[in-house]
Amino acid sequence: MIADPAHKVLVIDDELGPRESIRFLLKGTYEVLCAESVDEGVALMREEHPDLVIMDIRMPRKSGIDGLREIREHDKLVSVVMLTGYGALETAQEALRLGATDYLSKPFDTNEMLAAVKRYVERTCIERRRVGMLEDLQQVNSRLVNDLASKEEQATMAQSTAEIAHDMRNPLMIVSGYVELLTNQLEEAKDDLGGRLGSTSDYLEVIGQNVRRCCELSHMWQKYGKATLTEFGPTALSDVIEDIVMGAAPLAASEDVDINYDMQPGDAVINGNRPQLLRAIHNVIANAIQAVSPPDGHVQVSCEKAEYTVNIVVDDNGSGIKAEVLEHIFEPYYTTKEDGKGTGLGMAITKRIIEEHHGQLLFDTRPDEGTKVTIQLPLETAAAVPSAA
Ligand SMILES: Nc1ncnc2c1ncn2[C@@H]1O[C@H](COP(=O)(O)OP(=O)(O)OP(=O)(O)O)[C@@H](O)[C@H]1O
Ligand SMILES: [Mg+2]
Repeated sequence: MIADPAHKVLVIDDELGPRESIRFLLKGTYEVLCAESVDEGVALMREEHPDLVIMDIRMPRKSGIDGLREIREHDKLVSVVMLTGYGALETAQEALRLGATDYLSKPFDTNEMLAAVKRYVERTCIERRRVGMLEDLQQVNSRLVNDLASKEEQATMAQSTAEIAHDMRNPLMIVSGYVELLTNQLEEAKDDLGGRLGSTSDYLEVIGQNVRRCCELSHMWQKYGKATLTEFGPTALSDVIEDIVMGAAPLAASEDVDINYDMQPGDAVINGNRPQLLRAIHNVIANAIQAVSPPDGHVQVSCEKAEYTVNIVVDDNGSGIKAEVLEHIFEPYYTTKEDGKGTGLGMAITKRIIEEHHGQLLFDTRPDEGTKVTIQLPLETAAAVPSAA
């Protein structure tokens, strides 16, 4: 290693003569810092982090041995060379036991001093690099261990999800079959029942649609278990919207909330996955419905095609979201709802789905006034639009 003036050598000696001769010898090659006492030297150490300390053993008040102890408390890696007078061999050996790197006799030989400084500055640098690399390695290792643990957890979760989805499928198929049967029977009996039919067939249609949605979700979860990514394809927003409206209506009715739609998706087509999108949008609407209170509770859902995006906006005049809630809103299982009312998974799922669609989820909220959530999704053709757009 070539000596570098950026390398610092700290000399601690109460005698001016040796202190100045070391400074003179090393200046130009190293940055030399000098201290007259242990206390002054230790204070300089903390500020300057030298690469080598040269310290006299015999000093009034605190000796070099005391200094060595204090230095080692602060820095285990820096090389420390002790300067000893004649006949102080025992003290020098004690210094080595306490962690000194070497000792030189006073008066010192200049060549010996230069060689020692070069060697021990280099030793400190190597030690510091070694420990730094070891720490980096430990960090990488613990990250790997954590990643592995979370991968295993994900794999177990994926398998459980697939099994639940699989078990749900059969009863869902049965419900779906009976809904179809009922729809057909109702159709046949329509003339006989006349006015008594009321909204029954509409209700049945909503049930049928939601059962089909459950079947699609169950199919998707089974795939998730096999670690296959969601299948994406051209998805017309106008088709999705019909299902959104149908899905939200019973929830709004059960909570006695007034919900309005202003859907103008035009011919907006996105590259997406329909059941996933329905999940994402439904979660936002469900939150809005649950945030407002009757009789003035109101939710407005709108959809508009812009130049490169389609924007779905869910606006409510509910409780609004406090900053401390908003901070955690995407954390799985974070909920402010009472037990049994919310799992806290809604926004975590929605965020993941919207990101998978390369979209954005934006919150504009005022506590006690309401919340406006915008789901912004890129149009299928937007991918071909120049990036300056
Ligand atoms: N429109 C909103 N108005 C007020 N608070 C909201 C709104 N949307 C979300 N929140 C707050 O964010 C929290 C987290 O929402 P998230 O949808 O993730 O879970 P949840 O609704 O509590 O439960 P889940 O959706 O699983 O039934 C909610 O508990 C609620 O405090
Ligand atoms: Mg929710």
